[in-house]
Amino acid sequence: MEFIKACSVKELPEGAQKIVECGAQKVALFHFNKEITAIGNACLHKAGPLGLGAVTKKDDGHYVACPWHGWEYNIKTGAAPPGYEDKQAVYEVKIDGDDILISTLPVQKAHRAMHDMSAIEDLMKLKYETTPTSKNILGISTTNMNDDLPRYSTSEAALETALEYAAEKHGAATKMLKLRELGFRACEGYYSQHMNACTWPCSITEMEPNDGMTQVYRDMILWADIILVATPIRWGNASSLYFKMAERLNCVQNQITLKDKVLVKNKVASFIITGGQDNIQAVAGQMMVFFTDLGFTFPPFSFLGWSRGWTAEDMDKNVLQFKKSEYVKRTAKELVDNCVDTLQSIKHMDASKLKAPKPHKEDSLSFGMDNPDMNV
Ligand code: FES
Repeated sequence: MEFIKACSVKELPEGAQKIVECGAQKVALFHFNKEITAIGNACLHKAGPLGLGAVTKKDDGHYVACPWHGWEYNIKTGAAPPGYEDKQAVYEVKIDGDDILISTLPVQKAHRAMHDMSAIEDLMKLKYETTPTSKNILGISTTNMNDDLPRYSTSEAALETALEYAAEKHGAATKMLKLRELGFRACEGYYSQHMNACTWPCSITEMEPNDGMTQVYRDMILWADIILVATPIRWGNASSLYFKMAERLNCVQNQITLKDKVLVKNKVASFIITGGQDNIQAVAGQMMVFFTDLGFTFPPFSFLGWSRGWTAEDMDKNVLQFKKSEYVKRTAKELVDNCVDTLQSIKHMDASKLKAPKPHKEDSLSFGMDNPDMNV
C-alpha cells in the first residue's frame, strides 16, 4: 500500500478537520477522540464536501453531517447511521514523525446504496402528462387566510371564474391548487452553498416527499399546459406565499444553469392580480420576469388586474365593488381565451430546439477556478 503526506500533525489538532488532496480525489481528515481518520470528501448524495461538515458524537462513534443536505457518515468506518447501507470510502492513516500520511487508495471503497425514491419517481424521470391535444389548466391561488375563519378572496374568486369558464367554453381539464392548504417548507438556500446543492426534484422534496411543493412540481411541470397564478397585492407585491413558492421553483430554473435543460416545455402562463390598492403593473412585471425565466410563454395581455386605487382605504367595500365588477368577469374569460389560443400555437413547437439565453455555469467569471474544498 502506498502512502502520501496529507499534512503535518500540527495542522490537525484534536477537534480539527481538513480536506486534503489525494491524487485526483479529495479526502476529509478528522482528528476526534484522539484518533486521526480519513474518509472520502465527496458525499455519496450529490458530492457535498464532508470535510466542511459538523462532527457530532453519537452512541456508536463520531459522525460528520454533510453541510449540503445532512447525510451522515461515521468518520472512522465511513458507514451511514444504522438503517442505511451507504458507506463512504475509508483511507488508512499513519503517523510518520511530524507528518500525517494517508493511503493513496481507499482500504474500503465507497458504496452508494439504492434509496427508495418511488414516491417522486415521476418527477425524477420527468414523466410528462401533457399530450398533443391536452388542455390542462392549473390555477394556483397564492392568497393566505385562516381557513377556520374563511373570508372572500378577490384573487381566488377571479381564478375560480376563469377555471369554470375554461372547463365550460374550452372543455379544458382544470385543477386548482391553494398554496395555503399544501403546507410546504420554505427554500432552505442550499443553492447558496453550491449550485449543485440545489437539485431537481428539490432537495427538500427528496428528503420529504410529502412536502406540499411536490404537488406543485407535479401539477405545474408534468401536468399543466396552462397555469393561471392568482395573487393579492400585499404591500405593493405579490403575496408571501407566492414568493415562498417562487423560491422553491429555483430548482426548475437551476436545471437551465447547470444542465442547459429546460423542464417547462410548451406551456403558457398568465396572472390574476387583485388588490384594494394598487401596484398591479409592478406585480405583473415581477411575475412575468420570473415565469419567463422558467420557460413559460405568455399570451398577449397576460394578466388581469383589479384594484380600487391608492386612496381606497375603505377595504370593507372591496368585496362589494369586486362582486359588481363586470370588467373582472369579462377579463377573466378573455384571459383564458388568450391562453388557449396561445397554447394552440405553441403546442407543436419543437421544444428540443428551445434555446435558454440564460447564464449557464460556464458563464461564471470564476468558472474553471479550483476550489480546494469542493469535489465538483
Ligand atoms: S447530503 Fe451531501 S450532497 Fe446532499
